[in-house]
Amino acid sequence: MMNQRDSILVVDDEVAIRRLLRQKLSRQGYHCEEAGSAVEALGKMKSYSADLVILDIKMPGKSGMDLLPELKVNYPDTAVIMATAVTEPGIAIQCMKQGASDYICKPFNLEEVALGVERTLEKRRLELQIKEYQEHLQQKVDQQTVEIRRLFLGAIEALVFALEAKDKYTAGHSRRVTEIALAIGRELGLPEDDIEDLRWGSLMHDVGKIAVDQSIQNEPGKLTPEEYEHIMTHANVGAGIVRPVVNDRVVEMIAHHHDRYDGTRLDQSVAGEDIPLGARILAIADAFDAMTSDRPYRPAMAVEEALQEIRRCIGTQFDPVVGSAFLGIDASRTAL
Ligand SMILES: [Fe+2]
Repeated sequence: MMNQRDSILVVDDEVAIRRLLRQKLSRQGYHCEEAGSAVEALGKMKSYSADLVILDIKMPGKSGMDLLPELKVNYPDTAVIMATAVTEPGIAIQCMKQGASDYICKPFNLEEVALGVERTLEKRRLELQIKEYQEHLQQKVDQQTVEIRRLFLGAIEALVFALEAKDKYTAGHSRRVTEIALAIGRELGLPEDDIEDLRWGSLMHDVGKIAVDQSIQNEPGKLTPEEYEHIMTHANVGAGIVRPVVNDRVVEMIAHHHDRYDGTRLDQSVAGEDIPLGARILAIADAFDAMTSDRPYRPAMAVEEALQEIRRCIGTQFDPVVGSAFLGIDASRTAL
């Protein structure tokens, strides 16, 4: 079906040919413009972006063949039909490989030209429809992905807060650790993807405590080595819990969040830079919040004292680079 609004630009150095095509196509109901050279055609396209260009291959100056790639780059939605001498079909085929939709041979059979134009415009319309549909679909998928992530994060947050709420010593811990860890990540200039991983890892880092014996956790006295080891299992247990729903970087972050930088913790498999960066960040954020919160066996430390303790443990328990980033942020303000 021909569309009244379709516009065509006829590019040919011979005025008689331009007139002939224009007359025929205008009678068919198309809106037609002319250009006598490649340069003129580019000028016309700036103000009048045609749906279809009929492009003469042989023109003095810049040829139609040279103009074709330029047109396809700047006006990808414009269809191009090459006009060529009957004796040179090879060149026309070469043009089609470069994005031309069709070719017509001189001398023209005007009925065939009209048919070719109609076919090309119809094909273009379908291609545009598909493109628009795909873009719309992609946009929809992107929106849904954001929504699913938001809902999922909300559900995890609710779970973590519920878990912490039953224990007055840990209430709000994960939220505060998340704020500190993100501030360290930003101070280190991490890219947005890493910051997002850090957000998930921080929020869920202690989710494995669900499997830890509550009576041991709230013991007022000093823990036996066995009790301490039992509590420490929460890192690996937590990693196992979240594995089906988050990416590997977040899983590793949680599994290693109690690793010491010098590698001296019992059963620690990696040390130094081999500990995932997110876990090294978490280690400091976690320790700072733990120190500045009340615990069953001791009251909260003052912020200055906790900072001093972190400073003392840089290079042994904590990564020096992450440590100085942490000390570079206003930790006391972030923790509030
Ligand atoms: Fe922990």
